[in-house]
Amino acid sequence: MEWSSTLLVLFLFFLTCIILNYMKIFKEKATLPPGPMPLPLLGNLLQINMSDIVSTLMKLKDKYGPVYTLYFGPKPGVVICGFKAIKEALIDQNDVFGDRGDYPVFLNFIGDHDIAFTNGESWKIRRRFAMMTLRNFGMGKRSIEERILEEAQYLIKEFKRTKGSPVNPTVYLARTVSNVICSIVYGNRFDYEDKKLAAITSSIYNNFCIMSSMWGTLYNMYPEFMEYVPGPHKKIKRNFQDIYDISDEFIKHHEKTLDPKNPRDYIDCFLIKMMEEMDNPDTAFYRKSLPRTIQNLVFGGTETVSTTLRYGILILMKYPEIAEIIQKEIDCVVGRDRSPSIADRNKMPYTEATIHEFMRICDIIPVSLPHSTSKDTVFRGFFIPKGTYVTPLLTSVHYDPEYYAEPNKFNPNNFLDDKGLFKKNDAHMPFGAGKRICLGESLARMELFLFFTSLMQNFTFKPTVAKDELDIRPTGTGLGSVPPKYKCCIIPR
Ligand code: HEM
Repeated sequence: MEWSSTLLVLFLFFLTCIILNYMKIFKEKATLPPGPMPLPLLGNLLQINMSDIVSTLMKLKDKYGPVYTLYFGPKPGVVICGFKAIKEALIDQNDVFGDRGDYPVFLNFIGDHDIAFTNGESWKIRRRFAMMTLRNFGMGKRSIEERILEEAQYLIKEFKRTKGSPVNPTVYLARTVSNVICSIVYGNRFDYEDKKLAAITSSIYNNFCIMSSMWGTLYNMYPEFMEYVPGPHKKIKRNFQDIYDISDEFIKHHEKTLDPKNPRDYIDCFLIKMMEEMDNPDTAFYRKSLPRTIQNLVFGGTETVSTTLRYGILILMKYPEIAEIIQKEIDCVVGRDRSPSIADRNKMPYTEATIHEFMRICDIIPVSLPHSTSKDTVFRGFFIPKGTYVTPLLTSVHYDPEYYAEPNKFNPNNFLDDKGLFKKNDAHMPFGAGKRICLGESLARMELFLFFTSLMQNFTFKPTVAKDELDIRPTGTGLGSVPPKYKCCIIPR
């Protein structure tokens, strides 16, 4: 065959592929919610701002309404926006919208057999077990509150050592927060100089940043193709492997020293469960799933809380008048001579409202984790087939003008009533909603209150530039909203 005939055959082949792909798209789009027209294979790639996916999703909400279709690569996904629509899907129809959707940035590296990226009965069993174990360690010999307060004291000591010179608080906060979940999972807190702790926190931080950048977004859309493209996403595997290796070392040591009558931590409890269910062929507890559930807990329990604290400090440097009100409340309720306790929380509405407002405005997990439909369904008049990828856009809840008078303004009064008492707002879903709601919510809330109050009791945070120059907009959005890097002077009170 001559080269011109070969070219013609190739051309006709591609043309047929494109026509077939368009036919498939038109058929899908006929019943799915409205949305921008995708291109074959590329989907809506050209309409998405890769390094700030949230701004794209918010703009599309304004154009297409609270439920729309977007092609994340070749596959269609449904984006659900605003408090009412998200509640309707994740809470009122949680059986249909409660499955986890594919999330290659995690799934391709840690696999399933875990909690966060598994569906079905084994997800339910492992999730229940993890929540129960976290709760039991809260009631055991050393309560979780004690662990957090002990860790806060270490952090205060470290901050005092900075002697007011400018520092980036990222590493300090990450090691402190990580130590709480590490002590529950591995049995011990680490010294701040410990290489294992440094490896865990830097791997998690780096992965969180990659997953919140265009590289993470592109990887989620085109995982096979991105395997061949150089870029920071190539480090995701290595970073997860570092945490896996550390966990594996701890598991092996626990296996050798296990006393089934005296479980020391999450690993022991899991090993005991494995022994109890040895003869059950359908057990959810086996060796492979242990390091994977640890990944979920350590990753989830480190970056989220430390990013919220880091973001919170930045915001308070911009609004020092709010920091002053909080410090007055702390002085009045806790004083300077004892540590704060969870029992103080009800007496500190302004502090509690400010923490809620941090979580709202920082919106650190803006697109939640992906969900998918467990069966064919009709939602708000649109047919959505089983297995459709669903994105609950949590940003659209936190910035919903029906629930917040000035959504773009940082204002703790959003969570206070006329008498200055704490007031709940339904449109507050930093932990997601429904049956997949974050399993670490109560631990995270406890940590945020105790760490934040301990820090504000002891220090005032001063910016290294004029407060008006502080930019609090995230530097990128994807899995997370990443706060800008900054330095601060930590001045003892
Ligand atoms: C400020 C702190 C935190 C925020 C904002 C946060 C946010 C979230 C969100 C939005 C989800 C997805 C919910 C959904 O799919 O609908 C989630 C899931 C999850 N989080 Fe958190 N989280 C935080 C702290 C924690 C902590 C401390 C842990 C560990 C103890 C943790 C472990 C997990 C796990 C394992 C899941 C998956 C749950 C499942 O699929 O059943 N998170 N989190």
